[in-house]
Amino acid sequence: MEHYNIHFSPTGGTKKVADIICSALEGDFNEIDLCSNIEQISLGEDYMCLVSVPSYGGRKDNHLFL
Ligand SMILES: Cc1cc2nc3c(=O)[nH]c(=O)nc-3n(C[C@H](O)[C@H](O)[C@H](O)COP(=O)(O)O)c2cc1C
Repeated sequence: MEHYNIHFSPTGGTKKVADIICSALEGDFNEIDLCSNIEQISLGEDYMCLVSVPSYGGRKDNHLFL
């Protein structure tokens, strides 16, 4: 099973928490930084991923997940 740590963290706070969670879990996590210029992500058939984004005004940034 592949493991992914997918985060959007412009100022680093969300990534810090995501990294702590991933380090407490088993498996080697592939890091995908949504702040970099990524157009599309392809995941395998058998995977586990942690997706983390900050909250702004009580909402998440929906354009990341279309
Ligand atoms: C304009 C603005 C609105 C925010 N609104 C919320 C909010 O509604 N709830 C919350 O828990 N944090 C809120 N925050 C705090 C951010 O989610 C927090 O600083 C987060 O760590 C930023 O993510 P990053 O460090 O990964 O970039 C807000 C921050 C800003 C600048």
